[in-house]
This record gives sequence, C-alpha cells and structure tokens, in this order.
Amino acid sequence: MTDRLHEDIAAWLEFYRDLGIEEFYRREPGAGFATRRSEVETGLDPESLPASTRASPTPQPSAPHLAPRTPGAEPRVMRAQALSLFEAPPPPRRDRETLEEIRQDLGDCQRCRLAQGRKTIVFGEANPRAELVFVGEGPGADEDEQGLPFVGRAGQLLNRMIQFMGMKREEVYISNIVKCRPPGNRTPEKDEIDTCSPFLFRQIEAIRPRLVCCLGAPAMKTLLGIKEGITRVRGQFFDYGSTKAFVAYHPAYILRNPREEKILREDFEKIRDFLKPNR
Ligand code: URA
Repeated sequence: MTDRLHEDIAAWLEFYRDLGIEEFYRREPGAGFATRRSEVETGLDPESLPASTRASPTPQPSAPHLAPRTPGAEPRVMRAQALSLFEAPPPPRRDRETLEEIRQDLGDCQRCRLAQGRKTIVFGEANPRAELVFVGEGPGADEDEQGLPFVGRAGQLLNRMIQFMGMKREEVYISNIVKCRPPGNRTPEKDEIDTCSPFLFRQIEAIRPRLVCCLGAPAMKTLLGIKEGITRVRGQFFDYGSTKAFVAYHPAYILRNPREEKILREDFEKIRDFLKPNR
C-alpha cells in the first residue's frame, strides 16, 4: 500500500469515527457497490450527486481516491460519497466512552484519601485523539492549583521535550496515575493507585493512542506491571493491549539529575521515530 493511499484511508476512517461508525463490511467483488438502501439512508437522490460519487453497479478496479475531510465540506454529500464507496455500514454504534463521560463519572471524587488534601482534580489534557499519551505520577502543587497536568517545572521540561520531537503540547494527551495531589508530593500509595488508575485506563481506551509513554517508575508499574528498576527498562517499547507503551524517566528526576537529560532526549528521539511513519 502506498503512503498516500494509507493516509487517505486513515483520513476516511477518522471521518467515519467522527460519525460514530467503527466497523466496515466489504462486499465481495462482483456484488456491486452501493445499494439503494445506502442511497435511501443518505436521503439524497443519487442522480443529484456528481457522477463520480454515484453508486456504481460495477466494482472499481483500483482503490478510489479518498479525500480527507476538509473544513466546510458538506457532510451529507461526504456521507453519500462514503456510502457509495463501501458497503453500507450498520447503524452507528458507540462502543467506547468519551473523555467527557469518564470525567463526569469521576465527578467530585471522594473515592480515596487524596480527596481530602486536594484543591482540584487534575483529570488530563489536551487532545482527545492524540497519537501519544504521557502518563505521570500525580499532580504537584502547581497542577493542583491550576487543575492541569504537568504545568510546573517538570511540566516545562516535558513541554521542551515535546517540542524537541517537533510536536506541540496540544497534539498530545497528558494525564497521571492519580488525579489528586498526594500530600507533600509523596508517591501515591498502592490503594490510591488501585482506586484511581481505572480512570486512567478508561482515558487511554477512549483515546486509543498509538503510544503511551510512562514517565517514571510508578507509571511504568501501574501500566505495565513491571517491577524492575526503571534504569534497566527505560528506552524500551512494550505491548500494551492493542497499542504500545514506552518507558522514560520522569522529568522531575531529570531536574534533580540534569546530567541524565541526554538520556531523556535519546528516549524522546525514539518516541519521535516510532510516530514518524504517520506524521
Ligand atoms: N508530576 C507528575 O507526575 N504529574 C504532574 O502532573 C506534574 C508533575
């Protein structure tokens, strides 16, 4: 498959995902493409569509040119085009939660003792469709104050590393294994992690990124169950469900050990290279 075709198909799949359609059925060659049913579902008279978008009684010999969604494009026509290219999908079915739903479920959480000392729940930000998710340990004082993850000194270093990869903070998603600040910035305790981490797992499932980067040992242990020291594990990729996970030092550790920043850069280069084929 050419890169261009790959990109085009990815753009179409994203367009479908926006519509809530997650599954496709390909009709066997020879069975024709769009049916009257799909035309009826679009609510459009096929004759009113440009010839190139009309249902064709014969299968196309080569992959059609698939245009990515463009701002201002007429969605009904795009839907009609899409349905004329693929077998009509079943009715839209939502099979996963949204980040908003997860946030609502978290509510004014009082599930563990961390609730008592927190000012703000730090749920996570930014891109709900991120290819890359960073997972830290837990909010510190600045994060607790602002309600946003990684906005203090460690966050500034993380921002620099994100830029170093040629990305923007808005492109990624950042969260933590616990959503409330542990007193005195201590490491979260096991029962606190057990209570809170299911929300993180649900966030990752909602986003379905290509890569989850564990920042520091607590994130590595929580997501990957790895008990080894992070020094031996950092810089490596692991399977994580249907996606991949990567382990890097926590930026706060680098602030305390600035000579290790070179290693952090090397690890972020690996992340950049991993994501490259799709960027
Ligand atoms: N350290 C973390 O682990 N998370 C934050 O959000 C900020 C600092």
